[in-house]
Amino acid sequence: MFKRLIKCVLAMSVLMIFGGTNVVYAKEIIRIGHNQSSNHPTHIGMEAFKEYIEGELGDKYEVQIFPSELLGTQTNMVQLTQTGAIEMTVASNSIMETFNPDFQIFNLPYLFESPEIYHAVMNDDAIVGPIFTGTRDSGFIVVAWLDAGTRNFYLTDHFVDQPEDLRGMKVRVQQSPTNVRMMELLGGSATPMGFGEVYTAMQAGVIDGAENNELALTENGHGDVAKYYSYTLHQMIPDEVIASVKFLDKLSEEEREIFEKGFLILQKTQQESWQEKVKEAKDHAENAMKVEFSYPDIAPFREAVLPLHQEVLDKNPSLRQVYEQIEQKAEAVEKEQNND
Ligand code: GCU
Repeated sequence: MFKRLIKCVLAMSVLMIFGGTNVVYAKEIIRIGHNQSSNHPTHIGMEAFKEYIEGELGDKYEVQIFPSELLGTQTNMVQLTQTGAIEMTVASNSIMETFNPDFQIFNLPYLFESPEIYHAVMNDDAIVGPIFTGTRDSGFIVVAWLDAGTRNFYLTDHFVDQPEDLRGMKVRVQQSPTNVRMMELLGGSATPMGFGEVYTAMQAGVIDGAENNELALTENGHGDVAKYYSYTLHQMIPDEVIASVKFLDKLSEEEREIFEKGFLILQKTQQESWQEKVKEAKDHAENAMKVEFSYPDIAPFREAVLPLHQEVLDKNPSLRQVYEQIEQKAEAVEKEQNND
């Protein structure tokens, strides 16, 4: 099914080149795949990117956006970007660690104490730059990061107010070893699967719940099935926009500059829309879908998963420096907040 879709996308591009009886001048198509709905901040950011790029370089480029896993799961789409079969995609930092272990650092639970620290770290090129461009030899680099809020647990029949509430529960996690290990430490049973499968798995009772931000309740309908959402705030995992090196290297210097501006517009638009959409999602989940929210003490969760920090640093000593940079950044942000 997935291979057929890709062939279809490629065939569509060829048709655009040799459309009708005459050979027509072809625009270069920039194909971008993501796994969110077309109402999601990520899609809204992509549309702003499309508008900007086509406004500046519309004679030469056409941007086509494929939402809702139309081009496959995030892992499939990263692979397509690596080979240059598509130009760009959005992937959660969780699955990026399967392409390069350095990304594990941003998947650590309770790494960031507040959204302010999270944003300050992700916006600091000295911290994220080497990781974002460190995949060049694998055929792609990260060109922007997107907000995906905080991840929290939601189950079909009870709240997760203490780690014990996860005991014996089959909980969907993203396909990443760090997330599987996190669930183990919390005492639940980790069930890794792609995002698109979660709704059906929950409905069929294959899993007892999942963990994600509030938009999963509304945009993906998870709140239809899971009515107990607990703010465990265990992770702030960014999404990353990645671009194929084959595509980037073909751009002229002037074009590259325009694209870099486009990436910033995409990032800014997505992050601004995020704030608003999360509020809307929570409100809708609570009032229309009748999802209930709980606000547990996060200390026992934190304590249970903290050994994972050390485990990851021991296995990846080169990440120690990044970890320290994050600690320093956190201190600086807190100091600044206290002075205000
Ligand atoms: C969030 C995130 C996605 C990710 C999804 C998941 O929605 O933004 O990038 O794929 O969670 O849990 O798989």
